[in-house]
Amino acid sequence: MCGIVGYVGRQQAAPIILEGLRRLEYRGYDSAGISVVAGDRLETRKRKGKIGEGLSPLLAELPLPGEVGIGHTRWATHGPPSDSNSHPHADQTGRIALVHNGVIENYDRLKQKLVQAGHVFASATDTEVLAHLVGLEYERLKQAGDTARPLLPKAVEAALREVIGTYGIAAICAEEPGVIVGARRGSPLIVGLGAGENFLASDATAMVAHTRQVVYLNDYDVVTLTQDNFHVTNLGSQTAKVQISQIEFGVEDAERGAFPHYMLKEIFEQPVTIENALRGRLDHDEATAKFGGLNMTAAELRAVDRIVIAACGTSWHAGLVGEHIIEDFAHIPVEVEYASEFRYRNPPLDKHTLVLVITQSGETADTLAALREARRRGHKVLALCNVVGSTIAREADGGIYLHAGPEIGVASTKAFTSQVTVLALFGLFMGRLRVMAPSRGATVVNALERIPDQVRAVLQLNDEIRRLAAKYASRRDFYFLGRQINFPVALEGALKLKEISYIHAEGYPAAEMKHGPIALMDPESPCVIVVPKGFLYEKSLSNLEEVRARGTPVIALASEGDRHVATKANDVLYVPETPDFAFPLLGIIPLQLLAYHIAVLRGCDVDKPRNLAKSVTVE
Ligand code: G6P
Repeated sequence: MCGIVGYVGRQQAAPIILEGLRRLEYRGYDSAGISVVAGDRLETRKRKGKIGEGLSPLLAELPLPGEVGIGHTRWATHGPPSDSNSHPHADQTGRIALVHNGVIENYDRLKQKLVQAGHVFASATDTEVLAHLVGLEYERLKQAGDTARPLLPKAVEAALREVIGTYGIAAICAEEPGVIVGARRGSPLIVGLGAGENFLASDATAMVAHTRQVVYLNDYDVVTLTQDNFHVTNLGSQTAKVQISQIEFGVEDAERGAFPHYMLKEIFEQPVTIENALRGRLDHDEATAKFGGLNMTAAELRAVDRIVIAACGTSWHAGLVGEHIIEDFAHIPVEVEYASEFRYRNPPLDKHTLVLVITQSGETADTLAALREARRRGHKVLALCNVVGSTIAREADGGIYLHAGPEIGVASTKAFTSQVTVLALFGLFMGRLRVMAPSRGATVVNALERIPDQVRAVLQLNDEIRRLAAKYASRRDFYFLGRQINFPVALEGALKLKEISYIHAEGYPAAEMKHGPIALMDPESPCVIVVPKGFLYEKSLSNLEEVRARGTPVIALASEGDRHVATKANDVLYVPETPDFAFPLLGIIPLQLLAYHIAVLRGCDVDKPRNLAKSVTVE
């Protein structure tokens, strides 16, 4: 949420920062801005709106020369999107500029004190208060004759000691031209190491075009960057641990290529991303799965008698699919919690409860808080995570990476299928440790191996789905129904549609629909119903009939070869037959494509849907 980029080196900073911000725009796109140190002055350009419509034309008109700078792309928390609320923000003297991700919770109280001391504020943001505090500390240290150089890191540290909340920040000062100071608590910040140049960013994608050598900062770290050096201290009493890592994807992975949108590219990547999630993890001899990073012994895993899954958004839907799979394969009770609810509850967790967090970004604030809360209570926490080196990946006791590559489209697609794949592998592994017969294990292994090719086949439906989208794109409401393991598919299909097309869409358990939503059904509101062959097929068909009897147009998502369903539904989308547990991996693909094409037909900005952000690092 919000993106930060900083550059210090020998090249012009503004174009590098602008390019980095474009790559981070999925984190927030209300407004954007850049400050550079030009000679002994700070120069800032910032503007409301997406980068292409605001900041970029502004920079073309008024370029920003200078070799040191910071930039920001915003998802508004305090103060609506406007030129004045855009970052960077300056201190009282105009000689320090600061960008910030996160929320300063005590900003109101701090602001009142500063106003009483004569400070004048140009914005409604919490960030400007932090900029003023840094400026105040800088002046105070100077007045006190502090000889440390640069002085900015000390001023930033002193200011941060006064704030409550979360932050990832970058700051520059006109009086110390070759220096950027960064700090984090709760919001990610990564240092990129170049030759004669260094970078700072909230996300590796912003700098992968320049360097793949990075240092992931920890909470309370404060970093000082110059063109040839970097130095990390820790605001708490701990010594800063610095480890240089390698970004595992290349710049081409973070590019759209020939696809019109990242979302479409990522939908079409799924045969490969599922293959990557499976790679090296299937054990044919033992008919099970294997993992390198669980960091738990077989005895500890065998002793697990309950699993609590905590996640948000699409990852939460993947968790619901995982609940069905793990309960079925391993006979372990599973509960799936919204991370934002779990962290404030006091659910009884006994010592054999395993907590699983699921997150694409590894930075979602509520999921991170759930992980910390569970660990504080002494539970092992495993993370299913996509972004290597993310905060959650580093703080969990162990976990499984998705290896899906960067997901840029705000509406999550490939991460969902990778999460479900990994959950199926985990369920298989736990099942084989406990109760699952080798013959059933072998069936699961075989079914999983077939999935990538089956997904390739489902993607062939693209043109048919585009035509279907044209038929229904103007509708105001949509319903999505599914039973058991396909109920989360209905939820996820509805979520995709509402996120990117702004059509009201509801996902419901197909039979539960009779207890409320059926009152809303009419000939204007299409209903997508998931009716694969297998468990509860006939019952789902009855639900389809009930919907159709209300005149509602029905789109059935069915198994290939099921001609019967075609006599009952207005439209049918067929996917290959697969065991019940694997259907969500195939069934979700047509629903992703349906949402995509409807959104495009409605003229929506698919990759940057209004009000949303990719990585939600505020609570
Ligand atoms: C945001 C994104 C969703 C995502 C959710 C959880 O709401 O827009 O696409 O599913 O966060 O994100 P995570 O990175 O934790 O999976």
